[in-house]
Amino acid sequence: MTERHKGIALVTGASRGIGRAVCVRLARDGFEIVAVARSQEDLDALRAEIESGGGACRTIALDLTDGSAIATQLAGLGVSVLVNNAGIGIIKPMMEMSPDEWKTMMDVNVNALYHVTHAVLGGMLSAGSGHVCTIGSISGRSAFVGGAAYCGTKAFVTAWAESLLLEVRDRGVKVSVVAPGGVATEFGGNMPTAADDWKLHAADVAEAVAHVVGTPPGVLVHRLEVRTLYSPPSRGK
Ligand SMILES: NC(=O)c1ccc[n+]([C@@H]2O[C@H](COP(=O)([O-])OP(=O)(O)OC[C@H]3O[C@@H](n4cnc5c(N)ncnc54)[C@H](OP(=O)(O)O)[C@@H]3O)[C@@H](O)[C@H]2O)c1
Repeated sequence: MTERHKGIALVTGASRGIGRAVCVRLARDGFEIVAVARSQEDLDALRAEIESGGGACRTIALDLTDGSAIATQLAGLGVSVLVNNAGIGIIKPMMEMSPDEWKTMMDVNVNALYHVTHAVLGGMLSAGSGHVCTIGSISGRSAFVGGAAYCGTKAFVTAWAESLLLEVRDRGVKVSVVAPGGVATEFGGNMPTAADDWKLHAADVAEAVAHVVGTPPGVLVHRLEVRTLYSPPSRGK
């Protein structure tokens, strides 16, 4: 049964994958969801699912590469929990990466953290409470070939979030990073098949986010790494 009135949770990248699962999970915990992504049709389907379960959901169709649109559309919402989840993975060798690919990934994975957080953090600081939870990745500390740009963006998440925590914790705002290993989603153009069965599911990561967001007022889980217990088939045990 859905609890009610926990406040507003704004989730970016809400149209599919981890972000969508986070919306469904936090709605079940009683948050009113503000779901942000570009695909209005997918956001509408999410809203219908949450409302049919007795929850509340608003949608905002927004391209996170557009900083001024973010500032206009996300200001003044009175957000209690921000889940910075949206991210893209263009995985290729540095010399094959075009300037546009580089810029888009930096815009979505890094620059949007500034624009979205800046739009909602002022309200949290005024209220003396709030939680900024960002989806990082084990790739932020564990490099791989073709990941120069992507791993760089996820390493940024770790340093940015810890610094932000030190800045705002005395004003009642929590800052966390949930860093998953491989998750069976459409990330990076993947189409999940049975070959992805060893990976985490989006709902597993959503459960971790719900745990981090649900800690008592004086307790903070700042960094949480979530791993599958299974090895990738090609690597064996
Ligand atoms: N999957 C994994 O193995 C894995 C592992 C560790 C960490 N992560 C991290 O988890 C997060 C979510 O990944 P996922 O696996 O759920 O990926 P996904 O299924 O590809 O979903 C990505 C989400 O980001 C949104 N998005 C992408 N570009 C956008 C833009 N320009 N403006 C607004 N929204 C945009 C997409 O919505 P629209 O296309 O509708 O805009 C979609 O909702 C990412 O930060 C990723 O780095 C993933």
